[in-house]
Amino acid sequence: MSLAGLIDRWDSQQAAYIADREKRFDAMLDVLGLDNDGDFTVVDLACGPGSLSTRVLDRFDRARVVGIDFDPMLLHVARSQVDAYEGRLSIVDADLTDPSWPDRLGDVVAGAPQAFVSSTALHWLTPAQLLDVYATSYGLLAPGGTLLNGDHLRFDGRTPRVKVWAQAHDEQTQARAFAEGAPPWDEWWTELAALPHLAELQAERDRRFAGRDSMPPTAVDLHLAALAQAGFGEVGTVWQLSDDYVVYGAK
Ligand SMILES: C[S@@+](CC[C@H](N)C(=O)[O-])C[C@H]1O[C@@H](n2cnc3c(N)ncnc32)[C@H](O)[C@@H]1O
Repeated sequence: MSLAGLIDRWDSQQAAYIADREKRFDAMLDVLGLDNDGDFTVVDLACGPGSLSTRVLDRFDRARVVGIDFDPMLLHVARSQVDAYEGRLSIVDADLTDPSWPDRLGDVVAGAPQAFVSSTALHWLTPAQLLDVYATSYGLLAPGGTLLNGDHLRFDGRTPRVKVWAQAHDEQTQARAFAEGAPPWDEWWTELAALPHLAELQAERDRRFAGRDSMPPTAVDLHLAALAQAGFGEVGTVWQLSDDYVVYGAK
């Protein structure tokens, strides 16, 4: 399979785990459009293969995006899309748990970005790391800028009924998507690793992520408190479906 085919398959795979993933992206893009004139710079935190980055560039033809990620295999996929955007997309290899990650932006971002965005990614961080990333992003943002984070957050023991509904809803979404041919997570990675040169990157990926387990789930209020603690004067949600949200912080 080609890299382009695998990017489509990534979208199907992710949409199996995130109901109405495109609507969540659209909500973020709508806010970017309402908040900016057409000429602005966005940093996509943990951009993966460039899902949200390319959607921003496709919607706003004068926008620039800098995508940051730490996975060498996904960075390879993201970089395969750089040329198509003729200088508007840059991809940076950086670990968001390393406090020096902003240094990597120096070469590619001229001036303060107007927005930070992220999708389905920051749940990989510990609460302390999340707070650091929000605070650092706040410091780097242009005055009046916005951070938008779309992620699958989780209900906890305070709301047991909706927690059960959300879990059942996830299972229904996955069952439907897999029946329609979406690849499960592990299958997508096997397909990617089968491409030429990807085996070397797989070894580097294994090295970088060794010992990094996924974090216990966090609820939306942790993110809202972290955004406020990070300095954002106004925080809230602009989209929600079950336990999937877009949270925002306005500088
Ligand atoms: C499920 S993917 C989401 C990718 C993309 N944003 C999307 O919505 O399709 C999660 C991403 O978080 C990235 N990630 C996890 N920990 C990271 C870290 N410490 N620094 C940078 N990226 C990280 C992974 O490499 C992966 O690309």
